[in-house]
Amino acid sequence: MKTTATPMRVDVEIAAERQPGGSVRLATERSYEMQAWKRYSPRLADVSYRDVLLVLHIAGAGTWLGANVVQAVVPPMAARRSAEVLAGWYRITSSLAKRLYVPAAILILITGVLMVLDSEAYGFGSLFVTIGFGMIVVGALLGQFVFGPGGDAAADAVESGDGVAIRSTVARLTRFGIIDTLLLLFTITAMVLRLS
Ligand code: HEM
Repeated sequence: MKTTATPMRVDVEIAAERQPGGSVRLATERSYEMQAWKRYSPRLADVSYRDVLLVLHIAGAGTWLGANVVQAVVPPMAARRSAEVLAGWYRITSSLAKRLYVPAAILILITGVLMVLDSEAYGFGSLFVTIGFGMIVVGALLGQFVFGPGGDAAADAVESGDGVAIRSTVARLTRFGIIDTLLLLFTITAMVLRLS
């Protein structure tokens, strides 16, 4: 059975404490709170296997979300530079799927599975875990069929100067980028709430 240490509030307004020399000191409620916090606050030596997995898991999720945000803000900046810069950026985004999103998704998946195996509080039937698996599948499908080919299609359109093709390819990338980000935020919320 696992327990999580949390600071405890002691509901004593004033209490007497005997000091080492024999004198008596009056302790206020606040000082009791501080002592309780010191006693229960974890130190680096207390870091557990699950803590390490969770840090890596959150790092993977943060990488995924952060990359989505970068992809939303960079295109207008690149477009202000030149068409070549914009086309180059879209070529890079198309290889981000393999170079960045797949490693992040694998990291999230492995650490997630190991945390489930290590836990007695939740299992593979828990709703938040199912949502996590669902997000990995959706991400893999979007990367393979939308963002990978879409980045190259947008780069081709920018290089050819075809305004209609630029608008449609960029609109498609933006639409699916928003969907992916909203689903990711939903997944993070489900994880934080441990929906069961
Ligand atoms: C893209 C998909 C995923 C994202 C963005 C994500 C994100 C997160 C985040 C931010 C947390 C930290 C919540 C907190 O500490 O309050 C978390 C916890 C957790 N995730 Fe995920 N996760 C994903 C997929 C998965 C998968 C596929 C699994 C299982 C196979 C999983 C299992 C877990 C478990 C077990 C915890 C709780 C660990 C604990 O506190 O004991 N996650 N996840």
